[in-house]
Parts: sequence; structure tokens; C-alpha cells
Amino acid sequence: MLVALDVSSLDEASALLGRLDGVLTGCKIGSQLFTSAGPAAIETALKRGFRVFLDLKFHDIPNTVAAAVREATRFGIFMLNIHASGGLAMARAAAEAAVKAAGDFGIPRPLCLGVTVLTSLDRKALQREVGVPTSVEAHVLHLAGLAREAGLDGCVASPQEIGLLRLAMGQEWVIVTPGIRPLPSGGVERKAEPVRLPDRRNPPLPTGGVERKAEPVRLPDRRNPPLPTGGVERGVEPVRLPDRRNPPLPTDDQVRIATPRRALAAGADYLVVGRPITGAQDPAAAATAIVAELGGP
Ligand code: C5P
Repeated sequence: MLVALDVSSLDEASALLGRLDGVLTGCKIGSQLFTSAGPAAIETALKRGFRVFLDLKFHDIPNTVAAAVREATRFGIFMLNIHASGGLAMARAAAEAAVKAAGDFGIPRPLCLGVTVLTSLDRKALQREVGVPTSVEAHVLHLAGLAREAGLDGCVASPQEIGLLRLAMGQEWVIVTPGIRPLPSGGVERKAEPVRLPDRRNPPLPTGGVERKAEPVRLPDRRNPPLPTGGVERGVEPVRLPDRRNPPLPTDDQVRIATPRRALAAGADYLVVGRPITGAQDPAAAATAIVAELGGP
């Protein structure tokens, strides 16, 4: 389990790590802390004995991403990520840069992950805002396949796609999942949803497929966005009365979430937990409770 150090200063990060010392062994440094404190944040975490996942989600032309991955590798972090949606050439450049940099600096190579679909996006946002006309699951699998083809080690995905990814990508594939929300005390875990392969009538584009003739450009009708090609209208979700023993998990801006236990059982390798720890009155107690639920850090 990795704590997301989503704080805005080195002092806050250092204080949080101090409180979590002895409870957790790893942390995640993302764009907020890195933009504010820079490499000193990584140094601080490493000095305190935490291993670091650098979550900067690089997404740029291959040459720039390769150069950024080289610099990130130099810090001695154990894991980093890029956006898999940056394409095959970009992902390949990242994977190759990590190998080369680790060799040049004589340090272990960091694991390189592809971010699939952000946990804050649901199907509607993916289709209407990002313009991807498939299901979230199909797109996650598509991007994970692309990441593997590029030589990356694994991917970042929401807890709800872990089972699917494990099935499709095998045991060696590293799966990191944010969007973790512990049950409120006294809450009862819901029954796990069965793992379903994505809808064939809404298939993802094949990786390594043959380029099709370009479609003529058509402006979309904003008031009536098209259904995905070949898609089938789904039924409206039935209205469910709230279950008092199963109150909905607090989600913040995350949409596709799960409890720590469920994410682990589904096959995640690393859980990233932010606000349930950083926003708790007693971060050490919150982290300890999750560690106990998982059976170890
Ligand atoms: O506070 P919370 O537990 O939601 O934090 C989740 C962390 O994981 C944040 O730092 C967020 O940037 C990160 N993350 C994510 N979704 C991804 C990749 C990373 O939420 N796909």
C-alpha cells in the first residue's frame, strides 16, 4: 500500500511521513507535491526509508517523455508512470529510456506503468468528453494491451477493472489501483460483481490493427451525441433504496472505487490511498486500520 502524498509543501509531506513511519513503507508523489517541492520531496521520502512511486503521468512526444523518464530514474524511485493514451511510440520510448538510464546510472530500473482511464471518469465522461466511443472496461483493456506491446510493466486502473485486467493480462502484469475507499466503521462489504468481459458489440479498436480509410469529418450534434458505433442502448439502471448497513462509500472526485479488501482480492499489486489517510484526523490510525484489513502493508 502506498500513501498518496497529496500535500502542498515539503514540511507537510515530511510531517505526514513521520506519522506514517513504521506503518507504511511506500508513498506516491504526484504532481501537486512535485510541482511545489520538486526532487527534494523524493529525497525526503527516500531518506525516511519510504520507497517512492513517482506519479507524474508523463504525456508528451516520445523524445520528451524519454528524457523525463531518464531524469525520474536518476532519483532512485521504484515506480513511475506515463499516460498509455499517449500512444505506442511514446510508451515504448518511456520503457526503453528507463532501461537505458538505469544501466547508465548503475541503479535498479523503475517499474514503468501506463495510466489507463482515470478513476475519476465514468462511461459517460469517457464517451462525451474524451470522445472514446467504447465502454470504460474495453478502453482500459485496449490501453493495457498497448502498454504491454510497448514493453511497460503494468498499468494504473480503477479497482473495478482489476479482475478483468488480471484475467486478460496474466499474473506478471503489475496492477496499481487508486480509488480506494475503506468501509465506514460497522459497514458491511457488498458481494463482489462477477468479472465480465467487455461488450463485444462495443469493441475497442485493435492494437496494431491496420489503418482504415479516414472517415469524412463530421461535426457532432451536441444536443444528441451519437451512440458508439454498433453500440446497443442499455436499459436504465433500476432505482435502489439505500441499504443502511451498506451506506455508499465517500467518493470525493473518484467515480470507480472499491474497498481495500475488495481491490486486493481482485488481484491488485499496489493500492494507492490518499484522502482516506491524508484527510483523516489521525492519519497513522487510518493507515493502520487499512493495513489490518489487508493483512500487511
Ligand atoms: O485521495 P485519493 O485516495 O482519491 O487519491 C488517489 C491518488 O491516486 C491521487 O493522488 C490521484 O492523483 C492518483 N491517481 C488516480 N487515478 C489514476 C492515477 C492516479 O486517482 N488513474
